[in-house]
Amino acid sequence: MIIAVDGPAAAGKGTIARALAQHFGYHHLDTGTLYRRVGLELLKSDGDIHDAKVATAIAQNLHAYAWLDYELRTEAVGAAASIVASIPEVRAALLDFQRSFAEQKPGAVLDGRDIGTVVCPNAHVKLFITASPEVRASRRLAELQESGADVTFEAVLQDIRQRDERDKNRTVAPLVPAKDAVVINTSEMTAEEAISAAVRAASSAR
Ligand code: DC
Repeated sequence: MIIAVDGPAAAGKGTIARALAQHFGYHHLDTGTLYRRVGLELLKSDGDIHDAKVATAIAQNLHAYAWLDYELRTEAVGAAASIVASIPEVRAALLDFQRSFAEQKPGAVLDGRDIGTVVCPNAHVKLFITASPEVRASRRLAELQESGADVTFEAVLQDIRQRDERDKNRTVAPLVPAKDAVVINTSEMTAEEAISAAVRAASSAR
């Protein structure tokens, strides 16, 4: 059983995917962390963030790098992840790992941008979680402020819009709902309401 949870940055897909995995007793993979790890290593190396060769070499040897969770969650690393994610060789290098993860018993929930379209086109359940850019920016701002970051709403909104633009318009595996995905717009929902809607949608599609 594979559940694909896709959607733009800060729409709530991580929270929903974790809750679905817990509800059904499945494994969970946040695929964004794979791209974030590549982006983080590139930033640490002081190399050119657009260097496809170096980014691909990092993606092919991702297990060799150590990182701290909090390092991955910064806006700078999110933006770097979105840049390296547009390199086809980087995406190809991360594909096998994601597909093997998805095959685990009794099931797996993967969240990202292209799970229902490219990584697991045969997923049993496909959800596309979205929300307005303003709502996503205010949620992300609250998270960042909680972790002590000094950022403004405008800066976060601009970052979200840039990331949407890049994720939607890249040539490989762009962010787009799978034709058979159930779309859940969480703009007007609390986290609990969004989780309930996702559990209902997943239960009826299973
Ligand atoms: O979900 P996130 O914010 O952690 O993802 C960071 C970036 O990684 C995102 O802007 C695009 C990229 N990404 C991707 O291209 N495909 C995925 N399956 C997951 C993330």
